[in-house]
Amino acid sequence: MTNIGWSGLLPELDRDSIVPLYRQIYEHLREAILAGTLPESTRLPPERTMAQRLDVNRSTVVHAYRELVADGLIEQRVGSGSRVVPQLRRGRPERAAGVPWWVTLPPWRVGEFPNVLGELAAKHQPGRISFVQGVAPGEPSPLGELAQSFARVASDPRFVLSYGDSEGYEPLRAAIAARMNARGASSVAPRNIIILTGSTQGIMIVAQSLAEPGDEIIVESPSYPGALQIFQINGLRAIPVPVDEDGMRVDHVEAILRTRRPRFIYTMPSMHNPTNATMNADRRERLATIARRAGVPIVEDDPYGPLSDRSLPPLVSLAPDHVVYLSTFSKTIAPSLRVGWLAAPRTIIERLLLRKQAHDMATSLYVQAAIVDYLDGGYDAHVAQLREELVLRRKLADAAIAEHWPQNVRAVGAPGGFYLWAATPREIRARALLDAAERLGASFLFGEAFFANSGGDHHFRLALTAVARDEIGEGIRRIGEAVTNLRA
Ligand SMILES: Cc1ncc(COP(=O)(O)O)c(C=O)c1O
Repeated sequence: MTNIGWSGLLPELDRDSIVPLYRQIYEHLREAILAGTLPESTRLPPERTMAQRLDVNRSTVVHAYRELVADGLIEQRVGSGSRVVPQLRRGRPERAAGVPWWVTLPPWRVGEFPNVLGELAAKHQPGRISFVQGVAPGEPSPLGELAQSFARVASDPRFVLSYGDSEGYEPLRAAIAARMNARGASSVAPRNIIILTGSTQGIMIVAQSLAEPGDEIIVESPSYPGALQIFQINGLRAIPVPVDEDGMRVDHVEAILRTRRPRFIYTMPSMHNPTNATMNADRRERLATIARRAGVPIVEDDPYGPLSDRSLPPLVSLAPDHVVYLSTFSKTIAPSLRVGWLAAPRTIIERLLLRKQAHDMATSLYVQAAIVDYLDGGYDAHVAQLREELVLRRKLADAAIAEHWPQNVRAVGAPGGFYLWAATPREIRARALLDAAERLGASFLFGEAFFANSGGDHHFRLALTAVARDEIGEGIRRIGEAVTNLRA
């Protein structure tokens, strides 16, 4: 049995954090066990002792240990306390009779994260100006022409009464390939493309196909909360890399790759969510080069790229054999279509397709056929209008901020795009600001959701597309008033 000195291994608890204390303890011990700092068979301090040392309730430690048991990382026996499970038996909690079955379930990793998807799907509250969801704006509306496209395909049994191919409707894959070629990704052909039921499905497929639980991946910091949640559910361990006004800090990626072999690099190089930063051309080249050199693939998540007015080619054009590209019609047409796509090297298409089939067999052929019809019709004009709308909305937001926000609450992201990324001064946590703003009838997404490990408690995101255009100013004014209330 291993006994080790504990002083350096105890977690430093952040009592102001929204992450519950038990979660912080669990997270810290889990990291230490997976990293080997707490070797096999190490005996953990008894719950009562641990609680005293950390100055928390015993039930907090009980809860943390219980999570570690559920993950198969420690085992508890009456009389001999809690011990780190040997590697070989990890992940297989004992299934003896009398042990409740829910304790013996495979590791469950949801919950370390604030309830982000719940927040994203927040219900509409009358009177509240909610800058939460990154949805396409109501204006310009694709609805009229889209309805006609649906009507045209609705009576064709080929589209409605069948499943279609798992890789997707060929004319849609051809139309997407042609559009990607026009954006510089000349090597992408229909055979590289799989149609997805939302690009969220692609993130899940990639997380399951390119990595295994426990593997490390590189993510941006901040990053898209939905992706962080998917990575976490799949047990992937995020190495965060900062983002500045020119996109991901590729020099940090380079430094990490000198000593570690993450499974992939997840990045949003164009109109990054939430900062709206676009990676400059030099960094794109550099990232493509180092990914090729290190043999680490890039997952390029590009829902906003088709809306960008900058003509930077996607990463997939620079390193076609090292990039899995993801995009979607959620932002350019409507999220309810649930249609996105991935483009990948042929060498891994089969592996990705098997997962796709396991998820849902095929994406709705009916919807795909309607999109093909719409792409031939009003789509391009709609996207052009949408670009203008985004610029206009950001101008309205900037004017309202200049008028209503004290100078130390700032918009820090790049202009344009769906989102406005903002920072609060040291004395105001974004969570507290959200509470105050909600009391005045405005809401937004708090910053912690965008960080894989820690950070973001002084940042927040406004989705400028989520509200009516003429509500932007009033919503921002309410947030300014909330800041004033908090300082009073
Ligand atoms: C970066 C990013 N990736 C993926 C998605 C999800 O897209 P979809 O609706 O296609 O699942 C979003 C939605 O906000 C996003 O911002």
